Amino acid sequence: MPTRLDVFIDRMVSQRACLDYAIAETDALAGPVFELGLGNGRTYHHLRHRVQGRDIFVFERAVGAHPDSVPPADRTILGDVRETLPAAVRRFGPAASLIHADLGGHNPEKNDAFARLVSPLVEPLLAPGGMMVSSDRMYFDALSELALPEGAVPGRCFVYRRT
Ligand SMILES: C[S@@+](CC[C@H](N)C(=O)[O-])C[C@H]1O[C@@H](n2cnc3c(N)ncnc32)[C@H](O)[C@@H]1O
Repeated sequence: MPTRLDVFIDRMVSQRACLDYAIAETDALAGPVFELGLGNGRTYHHLRHRVQGRDIFVFERAVGAHPDSVPPADRTILGDVRETLPAAVRRFGPAASLIHADLGGHNPEKNDAFARLVSPLVEPLLAPGGMMVSSDRMYFDALSELALPEGAVPGRCFVYRRT
């Protein structure tokens, strides 16, 4: 049986593999990158250092990240994503080149229920050709699930694209 440490390591390794894959695949797109869930800011820090020439907006209800990983105020969309994602659809339309979601906690059933709830709020934000990386399985109508890149562990990360 995998331990909590095994699961944590698999999640971290998978996030990096999937983010690097999606960043490279969407490199030709100019639209913004959306980070859903800042947390400690590790994945935001990774995006900030790997993504070139695209704005990164962070959605978070309460910023408490490592000081090195706090996004600028004008790129921080504060509040509950159940409210800020619909507002972002009105503000940005289907413009995002890459969306990364890591909104879950320790309860898999709650995470799945929340992923079902936010999927239809995320879907209209993605540009044609844009990709989404998520720590939880999402429930999209028009986005295709892609095979995981090398290094990612099945079930620990999910990758989608609007074709
Ligand atoms: C697992 S942490 C993200 C970790 C981050 N990927 C990192 O590398 O440090 C999840 C974050 O999502 C945020 N979050 C969870 N539900 C949210 C909601 N409904 N609206 C806004 N933020 C939410 C939490 O506040 C928390 O900071």
